[in-house]
Amino acid sequence: LSKTGAVLNLAKRRKSIRVFKSVAIDLEDVYYAINVALQAPSGANTQPWRFIIIIDNKIKHEIRRRCEESEKRLHENIKVEWFRKWLSDRGITWRKPFLSDAPVLIAVLSRKDVYYSKESTWLAIGYLLLALEERGLSSLTYTPSDKRCVSEVLRIPSEKYSLECVIPVGIAGAEKIKEPRLTLDDVTFFNMYGIKKP
Ligand SMILES: Cc1cc2nc3c(=O)[nH]c(=O)nc-3n(C[C@H](O)[C@H](O)[C@H](O)COP(=O)(O)O)c2cc1C
Repeated sequence: LSKTGAVLNLAKRRKSIRVFKSVAIDLEDVYYAINVALQAPSGANTQPWRFIIIIDNKIKHEIRRRCEESEKRLHENIKVEWFRKWLSDRGITWRKPFLSDAPVLIAVLSRKDVYYSKESTWLAIGYLLLALEERGLSSLTYTPSDKRCVSEVLRIPSEKYSLECVIPVGIAGAEKIKEPRLTLDDVTFFNMYGIKKP
């Protein structure tokens, strides 16, 4: 497969980063990425996404504290062996230093009162990640195990919005290899399920 392009290059370059340098970033880059995200398609153009840009250190630390508390319980209770190994191979534990080390966290919310709200919001998250990558910024789609305790800190009106994820954004603090991907051939069928390329 020889064809390449700007989007493919960005998509290949993007990785989930869990170690960040505690250095400031330009908020203009964050606005740029959110501006890209809000170009995403949404069910009946409801644009159900909302973004909270968190730069206050006290709030970041409080989010980290609350998340680590609930992640501790979660990690103690992981029973599925392959998942335990998958996490430990990547050094993923209950500790979430990226929540306080990254200079910016973006909390992404979705409206609760419209159809296809989550689908639309996650599409926008995909756009956001690629736009951050374009600006040389690293990110992680962190999905807190206890969203309620994070929502409280952010004063999210829970009757109207759900918290989808918290995205630390910043400069990567360590090199990392790209997680392997399936091939085009692995995931593509023609005309009907199970029929491979003619
Ligand atoms: C819906 C969703 C939820 C995720 N939740 C977490 C999470 O809570 N913690 C985490 O460290 N990574 C999380 N990730 C990141 C994935 O582990 C990561 O995208 C995957 O391993 C592929 O690696 P890559 O993003 O570097 O290509 C999540 C990703 C997605 C799309």
